[in-house]
Amino acid sequence: GCAGGDDGGGGAGGSEDLIVGFSQVGAESGWRTANTKSIQGAFEDAGIELKFSDAQGKQENQIKAIRSFIQQQVDVIAFSPVVESGWDTVLKEAKDAGIPVVLTDRSVDSEDESLYESFLGSDFILEGEKAGDWVNTEFADADKVNIVELQGTTGAAPANDRAEGFRNKVTDPKFEIIATQTGDFTRAGGKQVMEAFLQANPDIDLVYAHNDDMGLGAIEAIEAAGLVPGEDIKIVTVDAVKDGMTALSEGKINFIVECSPLLGPQLVEIAEKVAAGESVEKRIVTEETTFTQEQAIEALPDRQY
Ligand code: AHR
Repeated sequence: GCAGGDDGGGGAGGSEDLIVGFSQVGAESGWRTANTKSIQGAFEDAGIELKFSDAQGKQENQIKAIRSFIQQQVDVIAFSPVVESGWDTVLKEAKDAGIPVVLTDRSVDSEDESLYESFLGSDFILEGEKAGDWVNTEFADADKVNIVELQGTTGAAPANDRAEGFRNKVTDPKFEIIATQTGDFTRAGGKQVMEAFLQANPDIDLVYAHNDDMGLGAIEAIEAAGLVPGEDIKIVTVDAVKDGMTALSEGKINFIVECSPLLGPQLVEIAEKVAAGESVEKRIVTEETTFTQEQAIEALPDRQY
């Protein structure tokens, strides 16, 4: 029954009967792996059945997964959209089927906000701005700073927004973004693009990588070119996963803006509420910080991911 209080499990009542469909982006980065673990673990702990689908970086796979969740009449659909655009049709299908949708980690650019119940995730523009703030301080005394940018997946909210936030702050004419290209949020992509950047540009001062993995790939390319990452070329990244934090503690990365992947427990709470027809906040912003080398050394021993 829906009377509530039958299981003491958070007020949604009968949440052990819930079925939630989740469509994940893929497994492109350390961040994503930690995010998947957090979500799967939280639903398991809550005793809620999770139908998990990996889109392998393809929007068409996510659309298929969502349609299949609709067909199976799951109680809630959650997903982390690979890219921002092109969701209206499938979201309308979910809405018409009466299945609430929760956006997790990444948003969509749909103008009709009634197509989803809630968006849980980071403020990616703010993350880009935090990276930009650090650059302004770090290069306060420089006359000319040549920046290369390793962008996330083309069309993804974190790529669009981290590019925008950074440019909001890095406005002094002494800064020049001399090259920008996607490395698809992967280590291999970051390495490959950085190799090309190094060949074309003899005088790079700073790498701004939209995630740790691409920054770690850039480190490999910089070292292979006989240069010292963190010294000859400074590096600022976003995420703060363990490998990134280790590189920061060693001085190979100079600054990391945190993006938390630990969204599972909050997603469970939201899913229980929307399934029970309770209202939820339309936008729930993840709390996160930034790390210097000293702060990374301090944080590393307790870092879970
Ligand atoms: O959407 C979050 C981003 O996706 C992370 O910053 C990146 O590492 C991941 O691939």
